[in-house]
Amino acid sequence: MSRIDELLAAMTPEEKIGQLVMRAAGFSVTGPVLGGDATDDVRAGRTGSLLNVFGPEATRAIQRVAVEESRLRIPLLLGFDVVHGHRTVFPLPIAEAGAFDPDLWERTARASAVEAAKDGVKLVFAPMIDIARDPRWGRIAESPGEDPLIAALFAEAKVAGLQGDDLGHETAVAATAKHFVAYGAAEAGRDYATTDLSERTLHETYLPPFEAAVQSGVAAVMPAFSDLAGVPMTANRRLLQDWLRGTAGFEGVVVSDYHALAELIAHGVAADAVEAAALAMRAGVDIDMMSEVYREGLAPALARGLVEIEAVDAAVRRVLALKERLALFERPYGPDAAPEAEALEERRAARRLAREAAARSIVLLTNRNATLPLPQTPQRIAVVGPLADARADMLGCWSGAGEARDAVSVFEGLAAARPDCDWRLAPGIGIRDGDDSRVEAALGVAAAADLVILCLGEASDMSGEAASRSDLALPGLQQDFADRVLALGRPVVAVLSGGRPLAVQGLAEGAEALLATWFLGHEAGNALADVLTGRTGPSARLPVTWPRSVGQVPLHYDARPSGRPASPEHYTSKYIDGPVTPLFPFGHGLTYGRFELTGLHADRPVAHSGETVAVTAELANTGDHFGEETLFLFTRRPVSAVARPRLTLKAFGRLALAPGARGRLTMLLPVEALRSLDADLRPTLEPGAVELLVGPSADPERLVSFWIEVRAGRRA
Ligand code: IFM
Repeated sequence: MSRIDELLAAMTPEEKIGQLVMRAAGFSVTGPVLGGDATDDVRAGRTGSLLNVFGPEATRAIQRVAVEESRLRIPLLLGFDVVHGHRTVFPLPIAEAGAFDPDLWERTARASAVEAAKDGVKLVFAPMIDIARDPRWGRIAESPGEDPLIAALFAEAKVAGLQGDDLGHETAVAATAKHFVAYGAAEAGRDYATTDLSERTLHETYLPPFEAAVQSGVAAVMPAFSDLAGVPMTANRRLLQDWLRGTAGFEGVVVSDYHALAELIAHGVAADAVEAAALAMRAGVDIDMMSEVYREGLAPALARGLVEIEAVDAAVRRVLALKERLALFERPYGPDAAPEAEALEERRAARRLAREAAARSIVLLTNRNATLPLPQTPQRIAVVGPLADARADMLGCWSGAGEARDAVSVFEGLAAARPDCDWRLAPGIGIRDGDDSRVEAALGVAAAADLVILCLGEASDMSGEAASRSDLALPGLQQDFADRVLALGRPVVAVLSGGRPLAVQGLAEGAEALLATWFLGHEAGNALADVLTGRTGPSARLPVTWPRSVGQVPLHYDARPSGRPASPEHYTSKYIDGPVTPLFPFGHGLTYGRFELTGLHADRPVAHSGETVAVTAELANTGDHFGEETLFLFTRRPVSAVARPRLTLKAFGRLALAPGARGRLTMLLPVEALRSLDADLRPTLEPGAVELLVGPSADPERLVSFWIEVRAGRRA
């Protein structure tokens, strides 16, 4: 008999249900914390997993109760939100996605896993792979952006990095793909709001990242808080059972979101905890995070015949199997502490990686008159604005185990990188408010400077969960402050922090240079200094379309064409009070090099099923600086059985070139990737002409195109 069979045979119904209960043993992150002491529950076998307990001492203490004092000695599963780093905070996912570098995504996930595992954490609630197309939604900050291919690659890289090659290894943690599914499509961008989308959009846009996560062997999946077309995801049998476990073949654990089972009552699909427990169990939710629903409702649901004991046993089996895969029965505690010198070197290595990741997440949006990189000659530079010397507001949401005091501020990083310059710090205002005396002082400092670095944006808590905004303007008095700084006539480099694109058209037009830094994590100031001084050239791109105004959202590059595309004609698809084009397109980002696409060809003009087309771009760097260019390969179907998106991303690549150098970049297009859903939602490879478009962003003006012909069926 296997260990799991033996345990199941020995368990009382209460102990079985206990394995399906997760409760907090520490601070509350987002919801009510259950009262009482978790230790008694663990000892009595009433709780199989905990969240929000981390650190060697705390995790050892509670794990010891489970494996030494509980009747069956089953170890606990200890979970935590390791969304963009653990002790070392890396850039937010929306920032890191802009590096367009799966290898980097995997390395930061690996480093996070190593730190979390040392802290006794074995289940992390990441990666967040929700497609996000509405910047009002606060959780766009945690997402890899708007594109399904990027989100799928992000999912693969993060699962690989977090879980490593072997879940049983002491540095591996179980990853959780979340939030299944379409959570990012929340109506009006309001967190937790209803979602409603077509089957086509669900399958073509929102499900692919989850399919990729499952194929990568993700250990857990978390259903979204939201309902999809009226069926809350926590009770969505069709998607959790039929699609996730059936079509996608997921065999791992489904862990609910915080308190979500109880919220089935508020959604109006369950009358009480008994019905809620039955709905969630029948849908395939294994672990109830932080509601009393399984604990209170599952036994009566069994007694009333609303749930079969086989379903409960299967859920318990999956939870125990995950504990077994994590080798928790053999090694319930985190690894022993490394000798201090080794631990110090590991922390330093993590910080080096954080600096690299942060520098590669900074998007240079504009750079007029080659203002950047900063001149080599010493300058008097004013660093103004509410984020000029911020630390906690460099980290962003979900940085629970990271210390704000360890963050490097913009001012600190810059002053350390260029000690030859005369640096003046004058924040002037706060993120949300300000007073005239400080504003005047800051304006005085800026007026006397050769160059002004204007640090604006959001606070860390203005994006993330439950942090949706109805407006995309700079918060507080910042727009007015920015206008007054720009009016001084000094050259201004604007640095924009935040968890979402903000409506900053005036700033983009008025400043000499504008950078989107999102939230860069602990090494923010050093990384920004690296980019501004040219030590590391900017290379990141926008993983989301950047709107001009809140009225344009949702806005994404792969929209379907209108029958009446925008034009000066009256009856066309546009606004009467503003442009339809974004402020910056998906993929936009400048480098210090100047790249020209000098040639483009495909290795086969006619491609059959099963073949791969290699598209090679020839690039020249005709500028004065080293640069790393990113090119995107989009496809377009001029005629199809259903209206296809104007552009669909199929591949991308990066090429670094010294000034004056030329090089080639090859991107691969598997013909199978051209399969799409026909009018009856069947995956189909339509034969015919396909336009391939290559360029540095989704801006149609910058794309160079050519055609190939696709033939269904294998080459004879
Ligand atoms: O993992 C998170 C989830 O993303 C949002 N609600 C709370 C969970 C646990 O902290």
